[in-house]
Amino acid sequence: MNNVVRRCPSAVAGRVRVPGDKSITHRALLYSALADGQARVRNLLASADCLGTVACLRALGVDIEILPIPVDDPLSGPEAIVIGRGLFGLAEPHNILDVGNSGTALRVLPGALAGQPDMIAVLTGDDSIRSRPVDRIIKPLSLMGARIEARAGGRLAPLVVMGGALTGIEYQLPMASAQVKTAILTAGLLADGETVVVEPVVSRDHTEIMLGYLGAAIAVEPLGSGAPETAGRRITITSAPYGAQDIDIPADISSAAFFIAAGILAGEDSVTVVDVGLNPTRAGFLEALSMMGAEISVDSVRTLSGEVVGEVTATRTNLQGAEIGGSMIPRLIDELPLLALLATQAEGRTIVRDASELRVKETDRITLVAAELNRLGADITPTPDGFVIEGPTLLKGAVVRSHGDHRLAMMLGVAGLVAEGETVIEGGEAVDVSFPDFFDRLDLISLA
Ligand code: S3P
Repeated sequence: MNNVVRRCPSAVAGRVRVPGDKSITHRALLYSALADGQARVRNLLASADCLGTVACLRALGVDIEILPIPVDDPLSGPEAIVIGRGLFGLAEPHNILDVGNSGTALRVLPGALAGQPDMIAVLTGDDSIRSRPVDRIIKPLSLMGARIEARAGGRLAPLVVMGGALTGIEYQLPMASAQVKTAILTAGLLADGETVVVEPVVSRDHTEIMLGYLGAAIAVEPLGSGAPETAGRRITITSAPYGAQDIDIPADISSAAFFIAAGILAGEDSVTVVDVGLNPTRAGFLEALSMMGAEISVDSVRTLSGEVVGEVTATRTNLQGAEIGGSMIPRLIDELPLLALLATQAEGRTIVRDASELRVKETDRITLVAAELNRLGADITPTPDGFVIEGPTLLKGAVVRSHGDHRLAMMLGVAGLVAEGETVIEGGEAVDVSFPDFFDRLDLISLA
């Protein structure tokens, strides 16, 4: 499907609501499935990735009912009722579990499956999923006693998980990855003894927050004396049953980021995104924008099921180039394609480094972000671990491609608001993965 976005100088304005957080939705579904009792999960992200997790959990015997979206609140996400089966109650699936495009489901579900007695489960997904590394979870889970086989010498899906007894380990993460951390902590929920994950550089901590909120036996200690959002952490978990609790999911900061960027690049008045998750381990994008001189304000801050949320307002600003790297990278990893677009409009040079993980996301986002934005007239040089971006450049509408990557599709949609003339995004349907009505909501603010 092609989406056409036209330049709208100074026309973007308004209040926007974006769908529920993808990372938190996956976790809310899984940890409610492993709980004792029934939970209502509100403002669920009903996108392809998360509905894939719903289908996998149903195939594992979990009863999940998705209620229709209330007619008086059409922009809210649906509510799900999940009947927990307890830690060891998942049923062997009759068929292959298809995670679609979801790296989180691919990496995290094996942690839960490996500890189920007498289970054999096979997981696979789309072409992108079958090219993404899984050895990063197989190694620690095998140290816990998990039996997992995978294609290409244990590096790629499909993977076969044979459930059995697990034993706790202490494991230092070799890369800042919340998916790997979560796979180990989830297996730790089912293992004998203590499981400890040491992360030298902090990654998103939704798992720790949610398991703490649900009353699981989890403890988090800082590794050093640095700022809590950047200092490393030591996370300890032991196996203990916990009860289900209702969970409210905040709006996804990674989806909000596209509207914040639209406000900065093409705002007439300000753009406000409401009820956005502001977890400090995810909010690196807002910090990077401040470093670039953007005018951003955060209001109405409160806590929702253990997560910090608030309202973010962005106003049109002239940006400056900046250097972005180090421990900030995991806290804005999914926003780097968009940050590259913003940097094309900033005065001076922007350097992004330490981001080689971008090469193993849904696509190789270093190569493709540079290629697609350069097609519009940007000046981006890819490097092994990031980009060098010279700005400002005048972007001119062209035909660009999503390559099946949802974040590329949405970033190119925002680029279309600032590029001269018309930008045609081929493969725009990739947005279904995390934000199915993205282009409709972009129309709403750009016509406001
Ligand atoms: C996610 C963690 C990140 C992120 C992905 C979602 C999660 O991946 O890029 O979109 O839900 O834990 P890594 O853990 O591979 O860094």
